[in-house]
Amino acid sequence: MTTLFDPIDLGAIHLKNRIAMAPLTRSRAVEGEVPNPLAVEYYAQRASMGLIVSEATQISRSGQGYPNTPGIFTEEQVVGWKAVTDAVHAKGGKIVAQLWHVGRVSVSAYQPDGLPGFAPSAVLPDSGKAMTPDFALVDFETPRALTVEQIQAIVGDYAHAAEMAKKAGFDGVEVHAANGYLIDQFLKDGSNKRDDSYGGSVENRSRFMLEVVAAVVAVWGADRVGIRLSPSNGSNGTKDSDPETIFVHAATALRPFGLAFLHLIEGEPGSQMASWEGAPKLASKIRDAFGGPVMLNGGLTRELAQKAIAEGRADLVSLGVPALANPDIVARWEKNAPLNAPDKATFYGGGAKGYTDYPFLETAEA
Ligand SMILES: Cc1cc2nc3c(=O)[nH]c(=O)nc-3n(C[C@H](O)[C@H](O)[C@H](O)COP(=O)(O)O)c2cc1C
Repeated sequence: MTTLFDPIDLGAIHLKNRIAMAPLTRSRAVEGEVPNPLAVEYYAQRASMGLIVSEATQISRSGQGYPNTPGIFTEEQVVGWKAVTDAVHAKGGKIVAQLWHVGRVSVSAYQPDGLPGFAPSAVLPDSGKAMTPDFALVDFETPRALTVEQIQAIVGDYAHAAEMAKKAGFDGVEVHAANGYLIDQFLKDGSNKRDDSYGGSVENRSRFMLEVVAAVVAVWGADRVGIRLSPSNGSNGTKDSDPETIFVHAATALRPFGLAFLHLIEGEPGSQMASWEGAPKLASKIRDAFGGPVMLNGGLTRELAQKAIAEGRADLVSLGVPALANPDIVARWEKNAPLNAPDKATFYGGGAKGYTDYPFLETAEA
C-alpha cells in the first residue's frame, strides 16, 4: 500500500516523499521585494518535505497586492531566490516557485500608476478586505477591466517570471490559479463578466489560464509545471454559479499539456476545509478529468492525509499551517509525535520570531 513516506515523480521532479509544503505568504521580503535573507534558513529547515511550493511570488509590480511579498521579475529578486534554492538543494529538497498575479485584490497603493488594480471585469469583490503596504485592512477598490492587449502583456509577464524562476534555480513552477486571484477571477463567473473571447462560456473563461500555462510550459516543459486550483473556496469574494462545470472543463482542458501536477485545495471528508458537502465529490471529478498527479490540500491531519493517499484520492498532500509551525513535520508524522502550535500573530510580517525559530523535535525533546 502506498504511504505518505513513499517517493513519487511529479513529471521530471523526483520527490523523496509525498508530503509537500503548501505555498505560504509570510510578508517578510526586503527592499525591492527581494526574499528576506532569513528565507534561506526558513526554507532549508523545511527541505525534508518531498516538495516545497514557495510562497506566492508576484510576476510583475502590478501583480502585487500584499505588503512585502517577494517578486520573481527582477535580477535582484533572482539573486535572493537563488540563495534559497541552493540551500534547499544542499539539504536534498526540491522547490518550485508559485507564480502570482493578484488581479483585483491589488489596490492603487501597489500600482505603478497609482490607479486601482486590474481584473477581467470592473467588478468589486463583495466580501473580504484588501491590505495596504502598511498592513492596514481597507475596502477593495473597483478594479480596471483589462483590455485584450493588457491580457496578452500579462501572459508575457508570466513567461518572463518563468524564465527568471529558471535562472533562480527552482525545480519548476506552480501557476497560482486559486484563491480569488487573477486566473481564478477569469475562471469564475462572479468576477468575469466579459463578452469577448475571455468571458462567457467555460471555454472562454478558461482561455487566460490556458494561455498562461502554455507560456510557462514553453519555458519549462510541462513536466516541471504544476497548477493550483480552488474550485469551492470563496476567497477574496470570488464565486461561480456552477463550479463543477467550469472546473471539470478547466481540468479537462489542462489534461493534454501533461503537467507535472494539479494542486487542489478541497475539503477531504472530515477536514476543516470540507466547507460544503459536495467538495470531495467535485475533487474526484476534477482529478479524473485532469488525469495526472494530484496534490491535495486543506485542513489535512496525519490521519486524513494517510487515508487520502491509501484510498487513492490523492497522489501526495500539501500542508500549510502544519508546515509553517513544524519544520520537521515529516519526522514528526513518521513518529506520530506531537506538533508545535502555530503562532498566528507572526504569520505575516516581522523577522525570525515565528519564522525560523519553531523548534525541531530533537530540540523540543532535549
Ligand atoms: C499564512 C498563510 C499564507 C498563505 N499564503 C498562500 C500563498 O502564498 N499561496 C497560496 O496558494 N496559498 C496560500 N495560503 C493557503 C495555504 O497554502 C493552504 O491552502 C491553507 O493554509 C490550507 O492548508 P492547511 O490546512 O494545511 O494550512 C496561505 C495560508 C496561510 C495560513
